[in-house]
Amino acid sequence: MWTPQRVPFPTLRHRRKRTTGWIRDLVRENALSARDLIYPVFVHGQEGEGEVGSMPGVRRLSIAGLVDIALEARDLGIPALAIFPVIDPSRKTLDGDEAFNPDNLICRAVRAVKEAVPDVGIVCDVALDPYTTHGQDGIVRDGIILNDETVEALCKQSLVQAQAGCDVIAPSDMMDGRIGAIRTSLDGYGYRDTLILSYAAKYASAFYGPFRDAVGSKAALGGADKRTYQMDPANTDEALREVSSDIDEGADMVMVKPGLPYLDVIRRVKETFSVPTAAYHVSGEYAMLKAAAQNGWLDERACMLETLLGFKRAGADMVLTYAAMDAAHWLAEDEGATG
Ligand code: PBG
Repeated sequence: MWTPQRVPFPTLRHRRKRTTGWIRDLVRENALSARDLIYPVFVHGQEGEGEVGSMPGVRRLSIAGLVDIALEARDLGIPALAIFPVIDPSRKTLDGDEAFNPDNLICRAVRAVKEAVPDVGIVCDVALDPYTTHGQDGIVRDGIILNDETVEALCKQSLVQAQAGCDVIAPSDMMDGRIGAIRTSLDGYGYRDTLILSYAAKYASAFYGPFRDAVGSKAALGGADKRTYQMDPANTDEALREVSSDIDEGADMVMVKPGLPYLDVIRRVKETFSVPTAAYHVSGEYAMLKAAAQNGWLDERACMLETLLGFKRAGADMVLTYAAMDAAHWLAEDEGATG
């Protein structure tokens, strides 16, 4: 049992353990490594690259460009990529059937990356929003997002992704019961080792704006929101109930999203369940920091690394961040400087 130290100043001096770099190294409690990062990337069905205006430094990649990035990520020690497709509007429909076309963009992208760089993990989002004309994550009838019908579609979407070679199925849709249904379906088709990373505590956040620009779902959504399925930012007990259900249904890992405004949720989830927990440093959080850095208002490198370390300190085992490649470069430089 730890008991509070009662030795007062001047005998006790906290600053002693901060006087030099080597002692700070020895007493440091948490560490950030490239091995903690998952790099989210956007792939489009075209040649060449496209800029994402609201996410400086983030590009929409061709499949060939994606393969190059996967190689680079591997060489930097980043264990996995999360691939998001930018679907041509001509392929979007009311029910998003393109999501379970076995030859759709994401499946082609996964096959290409797995063939060229088999040792990098591939995470695929499961939700219908890239594929629907209305930009909602589920099937809509009379303005209502239908839960059980959507879950059926998500099972089909997960299956084509697993068949293409996806290592980690990551449902981001927040329908009830989808983790159990997807697990049962994947197992039934023999994909027993395909992992599930559940976006378990996903909030109806305004910080997803730049992502929706990147995948082109913002225009489709119009002014609509996702509050009937994504969580109320005011709640944390509810996050524990969501995570608990997903673990019971078979999630291997859980995620809290967004990241920075929800560090308390990461901490509670990790302390309560002790399961591998991911934090998603989402597009809007990335954009804020980039914008301030571009204005010369913040030191990008220092603030980004401090932010990512903050996720580890809060209890996250892994962090999805658009800054993964930069962070990995910076961490390698720091390692070189002190090692
Ligand atoms: C889609 C999805 C979203 C994000 C990841 N998957 C957007 C949304 O739910 O509207 C957001 C990621 C980010 O902002 O970086 N279901």
